[in-house]
Amino acid sequence: MTALVAAPAHAASGEAVNPWVALAYLVAGVFFILALRGLSSPATSRSGNRFGMIGMLIAVVTTLVTHDIANIVEIAIAIAIGGLIGFTIARRIAMTAMPELVAGFHSLVGMAAVLVGLAAWLNPGAFGITDAADQILVVSRIELGLGIAIGAITFSGSVIAFLKLSGRMSGSPILLPGRHIINLGTLFAILALIAAYALSGAGGAGEGMLIVWITVLAFAIGFLLIIPIGGADMPVVVSMLNSYSGWAAAAMGFTLGNTAMIITGALVGSSGAILSYIMCKAMNRSFISVIAGGFGADTATGGGEAKEQRPYKQGSADDAAFMLEQAESVIIIPGYGMAVAQAQHAVREMADVLKEKGVEVKYAIHPVAGRMPGHMNVLLAEANVPYDEVFELEDINSEFAQADVAFIIGANDVVNPAAKTDKSSPIYGMPVFDVDKAKQVFFIKRSMGGVGYAGVDNDVFYMNQTVMLLSDAKKMVEGIVKALD
Ligand code: TAP
Repeated sequence: MTALVAAPAHAASGEAVNPWVALAYLVAGVFFILALRGLSSPATSRSGNRFGMIGMLIAVVTTLVTHDIANIVEIAIAIAIGGLIGFTIARRIAMTAMPELVAGFHSLVGMAAVLVGLAAWLNPGAFGITDAADQILVVSRIELGLGIAIGAITFSGSVIAFLKLSGRMSGSPILLPGRHIINLGTLFAILALIAAYALSGAGGAGEGMLIVWITVLAFAIGFLLIIPIGGADMPVVVSMLNSYSGWAAAAMGFTLGNTAMIITGALVGSSGAILSYIMCKAMNRSFISVIAGGFGADTATGGGEAKEQRPYKQGSADDAAFMLEQAESVIIIPGYGMAVAQAQHAVREMADVLKEKGVEVKYAIHPVAGRMPGHMNVLLAEANVPYDEVFELEDINSEFAQADVAFIIGANDVVNPAAKTDKSSPIYGMPVFDVDKAKQVFFIKRSMGGVGYAGVDNDVFYMNQTVMLLSDAKKMVEGIVKALD
């Protein structure tokens, strides 16, 4: 959606905009808004994607037919090659590799913004951003400087995010001494250079050096900002980079006088920022602490001193199958472990058998279950779980008090009551499922030693009504299905 649309000639020089072009870009913008609306729910996400594609088609075609395009054949070949690469990647990519793919694509948006900015700086006349004395307008200088800087930060930050998420680089935070001072100093230097560039009317070599330094420092700060961020905080970072890429596109939209780019960039920029905020809130982490980095290195491994093992009950697949078929209502709470084990198909099979036996089955999805937004929704949709059986936290939490069984599969932090009671817990304040209110709890995880992302013990393991099913999630659920048959 953030693809950069070609430059209109003389757009910013005060020439009247053709009303049909303005209308076409407005219609494209409306389609983008409908796309975002559709993408907010798994049930409507397919139509959301289609709206986005139609909007982008309108924007690209309008730009192509209303401008003096030097060589339409070259542009058609470039679009065909890009489209083919995108199509092939999208078909082949595994669902679990989606965050790194998104990070990779953001890097391209960032680089496109840098290249458009540099092209406009080198040939301002073609972009219609010059005044009567053939100097670049002050406002265009600010847009150019900001566009290049945000684009370069997006590029290098997204490349690091891609490398960390794809395992090509360690996911642990890399903490440089004095990094906050270095980062703040570099950011201020970039802003000062943009101001100097905006106010320098001279052109020539000095101005060229300002642009070069803005670009180099922005590439460096993108790198420096992302290396201290721990692997598990990466989804927030990807969403934040998504937001940056939107603002970079919007800044370039002003330079190019292209309303479609301004609308699209602003939509991507604001939706990415809102998503980052929602994720931080659902994890009870402050946005500043995520950006400052350093979390998720040792906390998530669960290391540290050995603690005394409290007593717990352990059961088998047969025990679980017996209790499940006696139940009237079962709520399944999937988490990160279900994704690791790829147990979603087995879970759906188990639910199908239970429904045939007259048991009511519902799925409860926490906003930050798993490791990326919508992680559980995507996996359940892949396994063809009906949407009307899937409920958000606030819609289902009151039902645990009436449920016969809470069936926890690979979730941990999102059911930890410490979030409600223990002020010293790292997850204190995060809304969690009230599984402790269910009559019976089954808890699938591989061992009592393993912890969730926050690295803390969970009182649910030791409750009277809890039976621990210690095994790989897929193997355990397949065992339950066999026992139910
Ligand atoms: P977690 O708290 O991370 O717990 C995962 C559980 O799965 C652990 O108990 C682990 O125990 C178990 N597990 C791992 N592999 C398994 C396997 N193959 N079979 C069975 N169990 C397995 O998961 P959650 O409840 O989904 O919570 C998500 C956490 O991630 C939250 O703290 C959230 O803040 C954080 N987070 C989420 C996001 C987004 S956007 N979703 C982004 C960043 C961070 P064993 O090792 O003993 O098996």
